[in-house]
Amino acid sequence: MKAAVVGASGQIGGWLVHELRLRGIDTTGSYASVAYPGLEKLDTADHTAARDWVARHRPSLIFYPAGWTWVDGCENDPARARAANLADPLNLALAGLEHGARFVYYSTDYVFDGTDGPNRETDPAKPLSVYGQVKLDAEVQLSDALGDHYLCLRTAWVQGPERQGKNFTYQVWRNLSQGRTMVCPLDQVSNPTYGPDLAKVSIELALAGESGIWNVAGPDLWSRDELGRQIASHFGFDPSLIIGKTTSELNQPAARPLQGGLDTAKLAQKFPKSMRSLNEWLTDFVIQCNLSRGVDAGLPVVHPEDLGKA
Ligand SMILES: NC(=O)c1ccc[n+]([C@@H]2O[C@H](COP(=O)([O-])OP(=O)(O)OC[C@H]3O[C@@H](n4cnc5c(N)ncnc54)[C@H](OP(=O)(O)O)[C@@H]3O)[C@@H](O)[C@H]2O)c1
Repeated sequence: MKAAVVGASGQIGGWLVHELRLRGIDTTGSYASVAYPGLEKLDTADHTAARDWVARHRPSLIFYPAGWTWVDGCENDPARARAANLADPLNLALAGLEHGARFVYYSTDYVFDGTDGPNRETDPAKPLSVYGQVKLDAEVQLSDALGDHYLCLRTAWVQGPERQGKNFTYQVWRNLSQGRTMVCPLDQVSNPTYGPDLAKVSIELALAGESGIWNVAGPDLWSRDELGRQIASHFGFDPSLIIGKTTSELNQPAARPLQGGLDTAKLAQKFPKSMRSLNEWLTDFVIQCNLSRGVDAGLPVVHPEDLGKA
């Protein structure tokens, strides 16, 4: 078996490559703008280059944890959002299908309107934002084009150690370690999801030959400000530096689901306890960071303290 991970320089992609290679699976990973050793450059917006890349590697399994993930950016530039999150993955997936490859796409709870979360896979979607709409359109078009060669993993609020240090946990660390306050929405609720667990489950579902939509997210729901306080306390910072404000006070360009999140009953039935709770993953976060400092474990991790040096 040969696997490819498009967007291997990102947080989910980094863990996917790590886990696939740990299992002895021959894996090629790509980056777009942030190079790491062992990854190949690929801009999926260049459709000819993307098709050539697939033809050269001929993977039987393609993971696509890539795209344009800046929700407010997508709101202001719908054409770019649609190209990066729909047209580019569709082009690459079709190139893979010519060689019989199966395709794993990453979607979001932002396909729902946040009135009745956490939502099941079968609940009717109703996106509030350009990002959510484009991801939903991609889900549908990929499914139509690929049939049972398509696995869609919906996830939410991905956290954990990663090498670009961009996720919310790093933002909390960056602000609070400097004694700065951080304003967070108090009325947006979802499930924080541990990146390493998401990567493992992605691989298990793909290797089991599953297709269609699966919710892969953490087991507990938190508001964003309370999540920030939990992270602060765990890392020894003053939780009162997290200031909760309502979404309407924040004037974010894109509307967010408020009562969001994903119901993971289907996943729990297939792989019980595969996703760790907030307290469990915060503990593991620290262990992984210290591991990657102590020995060359090949982990896709930057220690939060080293962010400025990364
Ligand atoms: N993070 C979350 O909370 C979350 C929640 C729900 C769904 N998702 C979905 O999960 C996927 C991955 O998320 P993530 O948090 O891992 O994202 P991320 O850390 O921002 O990584 C995105 C990856 O995409 C690559 N990329 C961007 N533009 C590209 C292009 N034109 N050609 C090829 N590669 C390109 C980036 O490469 P460079 O960095 O090298 O430029 C990077 O490797 C996305 O599809 C996102 O919608 C994420």
